[in-house]
Amino acid sequence: MFATIILLWLCVWFIILQFKSKRPKNFPPGPPILPVLGNILNLSLENPLKDFEKLRKSYGNVYSLFIGPKPAVVINGMNVIKEALMTKANDFSGRPQDLFVNDITKRKGVILADYGPSWREHRRFALMTLRNFGLGKNSMEERIHGEIKHIINTLEKSIGKSLTPQVMFHNAASNIICQVLFGTRYEYDDEFIRVIVRCFTENAKITNGPWTMLYDSVPIVRKLPLPFTKAFKNAETCQSLANRLVTEHKKTRVPGEPRDFVDCYLDELDKRGSDGSSFSEEQLIMYALDLHFAGTDTTSNTLLTGFLYLMTNPHIQERCQQEIDKVLEGKEWVGFDDRHNMPYVQAVIHEVQRIANTVPLSVFHCTTKDTELMGYSIPKGTMIIPNLTSVLNEEGQWKFPHEFNPENFLNDQGEFVKPEAFMPFSAGPRMCLGEGLARMELFLITVTLLRKFKFIWPEDAGEPDYTPVYGVTLTPKPYYMKVQLRATQ
Ligand code: HEM
Repeated sequence: MFATIILLWLCVWFIILQFKSKRPKNFPPGPPILPVLGNILNLSLENPLKDFEKLRKSYGNVYSLFIGPKPAVVINGMNVIKEALMTKANDFSGRPQDLFVNDITKRKGVILADYGPSWREHRRFALMTLRNFGLGKNSMEERIHGEIKHIINTLEKSIGKSLTPQVMFHNAASNIICQVLFGTRYEYDDEFIRVIVRCFTENAKITNGPWTMLYDSVPIVRKLPLPFTKAFKNAETCQSLANRLVTEHKKTRVPGEPRDFVDCYLDELDKRGSDGSSFSEEQLIMYALDLHFAGTDTTSNTLLTGFLYLMTNPHIQERCQQEIDKVLEGKEWVGFDDRHNMPYVQAVIHEVQRIANTVPLSVFHCTTKDTELMGYSIPKGTMIIPNLTSVLNEEGQWKFPHEFNPENFLNDQGEFVKPEAFMPFSAGPRMCLGEGLARMELFLITVTLLRKFKFIWPEDAGEPDYTPVYGVTLTPKPYYMKVQLRATQ
């Protein structure tokens, strides 16, 4: 009996050892790997950012982790991230193709497309179309100002009262990108926008959450009715809404006279015909959703962080307002070009982006071939996690790496300077495609609102809690704001 138990125990142990992943030769170091689970017990499933930092301290700027059986390399610090994503861009610009997010997006769209001709064509197309629709030109500014009017209306209705700005900023960011994509905006209580923003925010949280980690680590659970199924339902809802919009566009469009991104894509489809190109209607639907998703949660969470810090640092808010009043004296609207005369406001907005750390682990990359980084060998197909957090608060790169302080972006003469470690949009060929749009939105919205209103942390709101809620994007905890009209108006 005893011998049988020992034998059984040995068999089980042997089987477990067969499942234990091993680091390939000369692979970056990392914590001991457990069979089946890999290193997921090394990471808090609620918010692993502190664990990533602890591991960096133990193993250095390039270390490895196993997400279940899958190896991943975490890259930290400005020099390493630049070396990988810029100097060795061709080796490090792929995207993993076997994750929860790939299943959710049916392997279509641009954000998660692998590094290759389809991604390249679609990225080029989006950049060109955004430019044609006035990115950097007045028409995009007009669109953003059009949306700001609605934010102002919402705030004016709340003068003297407390309001929660979450939905307002989410809907505003969503509407700006909706106008580019679909040529339309939605009232803040419109069913379409409410559903789509809810689906996006829920999916952003689910995607970096514990159930997704389980989905990616243990493939046999994928078909089980676990909480991640909600993300698939949300994705289907969004796809059918986008599908409806594309169908409407097909009925009303005049070929060659595009009104928006969807029309441009349909024109491009006509031009290409069925010549085996990567453009298709299915791609268009996922692509539009990709851009909408990427442009909503990111910009709105940055704005939410900004107003949280501006309210709780009234002296910084007032200094911005003084600069804004001076530069815009006699002008009806702020233009994007006015930023060149507002070094302090520029410094504050950049500092907000640094502290907001909106996309803390970037979007995961993947090696496209066997390669090397800092003397380590990394095989083709290895998941790469660019830890942007480690750059945005890297000691030695910032005057005040761990506090909110616009001085991080000002030189001794009070001029605006942008340190190289400012990488909230990542770096290299996969760098954020909407950077130009996002920067314009952040500047025009912040300046217009600060010019018109004073934002106050309500007396009964207690101490502000700056700890963000973790997800693909970091979100400030819900808060209330009080608004007053400024006397200078
Ligand atoms: C404050 C706002 C924003 C931040 C902080 C941000 C940040 C990022 C980051 C870190 C990435 C990953 C880059 C990489 O993989 O290395 C990314 C990718 C991307 N972003 Fe943004 N983003 C913002 C706004 C926007 C907007 C407004 C749009 C819409 C036009 C957008 C569209 C995209 C797209 C399409 C990608 C994927 C690019 C590719 O894979 O080639 N983003 N963004």
